[in-house]
This record gives sequence, structure tokens and C-alpha cells, in this order.
Amino acid sequence: MNIIITKDQAEMSREGAKIFLDVIRNDPYAVLGLATGTTPLGLYAQLAEDRRRNGTSYRNIRTVNLDEYIGLGAEDEQSYVYFMRHNLFRYLDIPLENTHLPNGKAEDLSAECARYNALLDTLPRTVQLLGIGSNGHIAFNEPGTPFGSETHVVTLAESTVRDNSRLFARQENVPRRALTMGLKNIMEAEKIVVLASGAGKANAVSSMVRGVVTEAVPASILQRHPNCTLIADKEAASLI
Ligand code: PGA
Repeated sequence: MNIIITKDQAEMSREGAKIFLDVIRNDPYAVLGLATGTTPLGLYAQLAEDRRRNGTSYRNIRTVNLDEYIGLGAEDEQSYVYFMRHNLFRYLDIPLENTHLPNGKAEDLSAECARYNALLDTLPRTVQLLGIGSNGHIAFNEPGTPFGSETHVVTLAESTVRDNSRLFARQENVPRRALTMGLKNIMEAEKIVVLASGAGKANAVSSMVRGVVTEAVPASILQRHPNCTLIADKEAASLI
């Protein structure tokens, strides 16, 4: 794993954006695997700023996101589809039909998982962006998820519900279930970029980088990826 340690979160975001912009400029048809959460916000702001200043085009870029809460749709401010449109897509010239997330409102969840897996087969990711949960999860693959997993329905770990409750009016409102890409889907990306910021991620980051490769720490699978870069600020990297 390549490791870049930055002085703060802003520099982490700039370093991540550099990698993404490089991919987008070299391949206007690239497929970007995208993530939600607090961590990628600075990187998305950098892409929006670059679009405003330099006019980088996303007309032929396709995006696929990692996950979505079950029961939430584009009209719900806490949904990930809303997050992506609000924090990134509205600043780019990307056609919305080129942007993909699991459908949290699907009536038949197993059919939705199958649809998303088939879609991922047609859209091999040029680069996949990831955050990491304080419990070592990537996407919503909580500890114990099989390394061979594909898109599936998950019940969120209590620690994840707690971590994510800051974005909801009350903890009871955090959905308990989600659709998520599996670890096998994530590992298929040609290149992976993991961002981590803050002391709350230090334990998870050190287990990901230096720990045993085990399903108890989903992010540890990334040690097996041939082209994975961790960009961590010095707090998140403090235990490496
Ligand atoms: P965060 O979430 O960016 O909001 O910390 C990361 C994650 O849980 O994957």
C-alpha cells in the first residue's frame, strides 16, 4: 500500500483530488467509484473548484457509488443520492443518467442487489474512492463481512449508527439497514484511494495498514490490492 501522510485534512483533500483529476484528464471516459460521508467533502470541493476554474469536462465520465440507506430516496436530504447531487454533481457537467447508486427505495431488495452487481460488471472502476469507519468498515461492509461479498443488504453496526447520527436530527432516525457494494466489488477497481482524517480513525488505519488481513477488519483486505494509496492526515496516521 502506498502511504501519503499530510499535515491536515485540507492537504489530504488536495492530494486525493490530484489523483482523481489525473485520472479524469487522462481518460475522459473513466469510471469513478465514489463515496459519501464527511471525509470526501474536501476532495469533492476541489473537483468543483477545478471545474469552475479550468472547465474540466465530465460529460463522458460515469460514476458508481458504494452504498445507500434503505428507505431513503433522492428527495431525502440524508440519502446518499441527495448527498452526491448536492455536494458534487450539481457543480459538474456530468449527465445525471451517468451517475449510479444503489436504489434505497427498491421494493425488491435482492433484485436491486443483482441489478447493481450486473451494472458494476459493465462499469469497471478506473479509480475507487474510500473512507474508513472507526470500526474498520469500508462502504457499509461491517466487521465479519466475507471478503468474497458482492452487493448486499446490511444491518449497520451500532458504532456506525452512532458515528452517522451526527448527520441526523436524532439517532432513532438513522436507518438501520443499507445496500452496499461488497468487498469483492471494491477490490475489482484498477486503483483505490483511501482517505482518512482525525484521531478517531487512527486505530482503524493502523489495523488496515499493519494488522493481520482478516474479515474482522474489512479494510485490511486492501493490503492485497496491487494499487491502493492511503492518504491520511497526521492524526489519522499517528498509530501506523
Ligand atoms: P466519514 O465516514 O467520512 O463520515 O468519517 C467514513 C466511513 O464510515 O466510511
